[in-house]
Amino acid sequence: MPRKALIAANWKMYKTPAEAQTFVDAFLPLVKGHTRDEIALFPSPVLLPTVVPACEGSNVAVGAQNIHFAEEGAYTGETSIGQLRAVGGTHTLIGHSERRQYFAETDEIVNKKLHTALKHGVVPIVCIGEVLEEREAGKTASVLKTQVNGAFAGVSPEAAAPIVIAYEPVWAIGTGRTATPEIAADAHAIIRAEVTKLLGADVAAAMRILYGGSVKPDNITNLMAQEEIDGALVGGASLKPESFTAIVKY
Ligand code: PGA
Repeated sequence: MPRKALIAANWKMYKTPAEAQTFVDAFLPLVKGHTRDEIALFPSPVLLPTVVPACEGSNVAVGAQNIHFAEEGAYTGETSIGQLRAVGGTHTLIGHSERRQYFAETDEIVNKKLHTALKHGVVPIVCIGEVLEEREAGKTASVLKTQVNGAFAGVSPEAAAPIVIAYEPVWAIGTGRTATPEIAADAHAIIRAEVTKLLGADVAAAMRILYGGSVKPDNITNLMAQEEIDGALVGGASLKPESFTAIVKY
């Protein structure tokens, strides 16, 4: 069965509630009736009570950029999975490279968050990717394998169906330096082979692997032409309804 593509917007720490509402008001009519791909928005947690109701009944899902692995507790500044679900969020990013880089998230933490998301029926998008020095040192494959194994530890094939992976080479994020479609597809093949080893061929064949890192309206078509690429995680170019629509409708 072909994998249905997912095009996701990572808004990072941008937009006020009013700006988020303006985006959704403009965006939903532009993508109305678009069923070829799944669409999801990932705003800051304070925007969820605006964006979730605004997207209700539409073809656009809404999720968090991060969740804590604990159900609840004394974790100042964090958001729990129960809080996400209570406001209607259905998806979450996990282990984005900015979380790994600035907030010291390790593969072990990513793994705990993945288990929490799966337990609560929230669709996890697990982000992995190498930094420039690792690519230049020829370590990309081993880094990706380590990240996949770390993230998926203890996940059974039966539980793995909802998982989405986002391959985001760190050197391509926010730099305007996109991986070529071939570089991205090679990395995706490495990741899928590792998932095959861990969870079996059926799970791996069904698992969506998105590409992220300077995806723009003018490079999405070539990226999506690669059979290995099952969608995109888009930062900068997702902030304007017109450019994100152009990406969704590549
Ligand atoms: P970018 O960000 O599209 O601005 O490179 C992608 C991401 O960080 O998910």
